[in-house]
Amino acid sequence: MVHLAPSILSANFLNLGADLDEMENADIKYIHVDIMDGHFVPNISFGSPVIKSIAPHIKGNIDVHLMVTNPEDYIDQYVKLGAKIITVHYEVCTHLNRIISMIKKNGILAGIAINPATPVNLLVDIIDSIDLVLVMSVDPGFGGQEFITHALTKIEQVRELSSTILIEVDGGINLHNVKQVINSGANLIVAGSSVFENGKINDNVKNFYKIFEE
Ligand code: DX5
Ligand code: ZN
Repeated sequence: MVHLAPSILSANFLNLGADLDEMENADIKYIHVDIMDGHFVPNISFGSPVIKSIAPHIKGNIDVHLMVTNPEDYIDQYVKLGAKIITVHYEVCTHLNRIISMIKKNGILAGIAINPATPVNLLVDIIDSIDLVLVMSVDPGFGGQEFITHALTKIEQVRELSSTILIEVDGGINLHNVKQVINSGANLIVAGSSVFENGKINDNVKNFYKIFEE
């Protein structure tokens, strides 16, 4: 089963409630929230106060992507706000087993994200302890960047390491390349600009779902 997880980084913040309603009406099951700290990535997005406001309005699962240098400091607050998935970046974690345990002890899914230049084989010794690998298909920090096609090879490599793990892919995914992403083995598709493009969330989501069903 493949799911779409729209990234609200590309939503209309002046009208976020309406965008969230439209996503729910379009049968979205996962909402991807991009938390950026201005240290790990050269951009600052939003944090727990925003998630606190929107969480009660979301029926779908909250999927937290922590692009921050000290992810261990933020786990508890997003667990309390109802996160169903928390993903931390391999590149900033010295003690991965410890942070994965911190996430999993709350009964939620733990993910590790790898940047485009981080090799998949670095996950060999941790793959059995995690629920999800997030393959970045852009350097993190901004929406609307171009898909790095080498990510397709990396998705296949993760799938070879584990036939059951969730593989999430994030960055530059659109209606033209999403089929290749799925065929490579991904099952959770993050899309920002291509979901919110032209403000036609419902139509855009429907177009993704059509491709998922093909
Ligand atoms: C990038 C973020 C992504 C991004 C996706 O740092 O992690 O989730 O917002 O946006 P698009 O789909 O526009 O690349
Ligand atoms: Zn993301």
